[in-house]
Amino acid sequence: MWDFNREADLKAAADALLQGDLVAFPTETVYGLGADGFNGAACRKIFEAKERPADNPLILHIADIAQLAEIITELPPHGRRLIEAFWPGPLTLILPKAATVPPEVSSGLETVAVRMPSNPVAQELIRRVGRPLAAPSANLSGKPSPTTAAHVAQDLSERVAGIVDGGACEVGLESTIIDVTVQPPTILRPGGISREAIEAVIGPVAVSGDACDSDNSAPKAPGMKYRHYAPEAPVYMIQGQDRARYLQARVAMRPDRRVGLLLSSETLAQMHPLPDNVVPFDLGHQDDAYGAARRLFYGLRRLDGEGVVVIYTEGWSEGDIGTALMNRLYKLSRPITEEEWE
Ligand code: TXA
Ligand code: MG
Repeated sequence: MWDFNREADLKAAADALLQGDLVAFPTETVYGLGADGFNGAACRKIFEAKERPADNPLILHIADIAQLAEIITELPPHGRRLIEAFWPGPLTLILPKAATVPPEVSSGLETVAVRMPSNPVAQELIRRVGRPLAAPSANLSGKPSPTTAAHVAQDLSERVAGIVDGGACEVGLESTIIDVTVQPPTILRPGGISREAIEAVIGPVAVSGDACDSDNSAPKAPGMKYRHYAPEAPVYMIQGQDRARYLQARVAMRPDRRVGLLLSSETLAQMHPLPDNVVPFDLGHQDDAYGAARRLFYGLRRLDGEGVVVIYTEGWSEGDIGTALMNRLYKLSRPITEEEWE
């Protein structure tokens, strides 16, 4: 574990990256598993470490706008306006790829995903390396993305040269991905920058149904599509009114089962007193989707650590960051009606 405050640690991290090794580092969204973005062999190690399908491309992280010219052939006008509005920050642009970008990064596509993180530790590391860093989320494929250094270590400690600890991530969900090589520009993954904020800058955009929203975006069985970002325990989502009463009854029916509740403060309050077999994780107030987004992945890993056999969670209002929050909740959960009682 490297401390972002220590000069010697930052130097060690940058040196490891320049040597072609993997280093996990904080960004404002989630922790990234970084490699030298110009080194194809180093980028291949990312896929091995994460057990990620080779046809799922990586995002290049830059710290300086001048680095963009090294990795793309053209910046469409919409891209320029989005960069002015949202970089550095949690917005990834799909752009036409220059020949300098190795095929390992783009999985053979003609485009490349690029973002400039706002996290100062990420920026410092990229500057020291002097090259773009290829980095997916620093979790094993399919697991919740890590929002603390300890969570990276759970999944990858044996598989990286080191982890730069920069504290907890402030957004907690991955960046928004928007393809600006197509008309209209198309959001491929909702995230830290909302559709509403994007449309205020460039006008109407399209939203792609289920494109590139996970670590496993290769073609997959239909039943698989909701099982991403998932903890060990199955997660069931309840929506609609009266959820507290419904969950209370559900929990009471099986006092032998250790149950995780990943719920808003309001719903948890309605369920008090909580029975002994329940482990609560409070996502915060229902009108604070930003807070819930920040805590979501953290809460999933916390409940897994408690050894719960099932997790119940609930729907949140869409709009703004709520759309990204619900996107992740749909991916990692199943509707409560599908719960199997053995
Ligand atoms: O916030 C984030 O974006 C975090 C931090 C570490 O920056 N990174 C992240 O990376 O979420 P990852 O690998 O978990 O997700 C990257 C997504 C994948 O779904 C991938 O398919 C998509 O970006 N992607 C990458 N290059 C692409 C391209 N050229 N065209 C379409 N999708 C692309
Ligand atoms: Mg990921």
